Amino acid sequence: MCGIIGVTGVDDALPVLLEGLGRLEYRGYDSAGVALVTNTGLWRARAAEGTHSVRDLLVGGGDPPPLASIGIGHTRWATHGQPDTGNAHPHFDCTGRLALVHNGIIENHAELARDLVRGGHVLTSKTDSEVLSHLIETEMVRGTSLAEGLRRALRHVRGSFAVAAVHAEEPDLIVAARRISPLIVGVEGGTSFLASDIPALLGATRRLFALEDDQLAELRPGTMRVTDLYGAHARPAALTIDWDAAAAGQDGYDDFMTKEIHEQPKAVAATLRGRRAPDGTLVLDESAGLSHDDLRSIERVCIVACGSSYHAGLVAKYAIEQWAGLPTDVDIASEFRYRNPILNERTLTIGVSQSGETVDTLQGLRAARERGGKVLVVSNVVDSSMAREADGVLYTRAGPEVGVAATKTHLTQIVALELLALVLAQARGTRAAGEIASLMDQLLALPDTLEAVLERTKDVAEVAQELTDARDFFYLGRHVGHPVALEGALKAKEISYVRAEGYAAGELKHGPIALIEPGTVVVGVATRNCLWEKMCSNIEEVRSRGATIVLVGNDGDERTADLADHMLWVPAVDPMLAPVVDALPLQFLAYWLAQARGHDVDRPRNLAKTVTVE
Ligand code: AGP
Repeated sequence: MCGIIGVTGVDDALPVLLEGLGRLEYRGYDSAGVALVTNTGLWRARAAEGTHSVRDLLVGGGDPPPLASIGIGHTRWATHGQPDTGNAHPHFDCTGRLALVHNGIIENHAELARDLVRGGHVLTSKTDSEVLSHLIETEMVRGTSLAEGLRRALRHVRGSFAVAAVHAEEPDLIVAARRISPLIVGVEGGTSFLASDIPALLGATRRLFALEDDQLAELRPGTMRVTDLYGAHARPAALTIDWDAAAAGQDGYDDFMTKEIHEQPKAVAATLRGRRAPDGTLVLDESAGLSHDDLRSIERVCIVACGSSYHAGLVAKYAIEQWAGLPTDVDIASEFRYRNPILNERTLTIGVSQSGETVDTLQGLRAARERGGKVLVVSNVVDSSMAREADGVLYTRAGPEVGVAATKTHLTQIVALELLALVLAQARGTRAAGEIASLMDQLLALPDTLEAVLERTKDVAEVAQELTDARDFFYLGRHVGHPVALEGALKAKEISYVRAEGYAAGELKHGPIALIEPGTVVVGVATRNCLWEKMCSNIEEVRSRGATIVLVGNDGDERTADLADHMLWVPAVDPMLAPVVDALPLQFLAYWLAQARGHDVDRPRNLAKTVTVE
């Protein structure tokens, strides 16, 4: 989490930094700050309520900010220390001549801080990051350059970092380095840039490179030198940029979440484009790195992911087992690497991550690679860290997703994984060609179905209005409806701030049903699948205990409607593809509940879009 940015070699660095920070805000918005190197030393502005307030701070009152050609900036998701101004980055050293921004966690910060304080340093914040400024200061007192000071400082550090620093004595230089946390650098004409992520620099340059772990970049106007932490020449990885600045904008919508929900038909269509060869067989991109022999030799699939991506993985388990006949496990990434997963060369491990940077998933995939077998990543970001490290990548083509709540990337993950399940079935001969062709036809028809559901947002808004005062929600589903329920509950929690439990409907009677009472809202995924009748029984059980019932049901299904106080209607599709359609009204429900409660859907409290800490 946290986003960092830097620029050197422009006429006026501040607007560039603020624009970039605005685009990085999805990585955290507890506080923000910038530091400029001016003729008279460093100038710094920090604020505790996100980038907008930094902008306000700079344009409102006081002396106008100085003109500077170089600066660094930071938007924070707090880990160590409250989200107040004192803990906001950039952090100075004791001299006030060095400023530093950091994303990641310095795990041994306490012992480093203790030694620094013993050595006479005064640390002014509660963050783990500030120790880095003072460690560099210590090295520079011994006469080293800023770059060498950072190299030496980082040799003492355990944990993760994407870090950038400037110093008044080297007024055109930014030094930056990374380990685990992502960092990209670029040069365009006489200007050099760095940022945590591609969207921050879209519009500024398309010549971007990703630093590898333990690489350090020295950025001067129009030049870049990359070394390892011992000063040896190193080569960063060139990035392929297929997004443009317009795609990362709000495009006239009230918020990014609405924009991204409405982009879902296009995103699903793009993800499926070109996957059927002229002879009718299904194909994956070459980037997936899975030959026919590979597909046939797989004996087991292991999916590793977090949050909404984990829910997409749960849907995929049903599809891969049913269509391809392969045993499939789905693991929460933060747990996976700390148990002893049994993998071998015939296991296909699939990491699902829209960002490709989530550290839990990244580390889980590294653990999987060590144990053998192929690692495939399903990611939305070209050349993300996971994409670069995996044996193959299956890209969702959703375009940049800025809203913290995953919407279009979640649906495209399901679609990409179901496509993979069909390709596995085709290679292994577990389904007839005709059935595979028919399922692919139905996948390709999903964008039109989604368009029809998008028209119904106002109907969902009316239901949400009725539920404005409810605090306790249960989301229930069975079979593939279960992950849909989990995802619906996650959306409600993260942007509407209601207590929302997602459950397999059949599991409720084993304990949680004790919580059902008049006023509890039960949202059921009750579109027709093989367990629909059992699902109806489970709904009866909670209805008879006074719950208010909201059901996602198929158009015209009066038997389902008889059980509900409120219906969220969707067209019927093949049950295995239904999660793509059924998720949409639940996205809307969370959205309208959040609106009714006055929440900022793009900036939910305590969250960040890309989670790069454990
Ligand atoms: C869901 O709305 C959240 N944004 C979150 O659960 C997210 O899916 C999770 O953090 C995983 O992110 P990733 O797909 O980028 O790895």
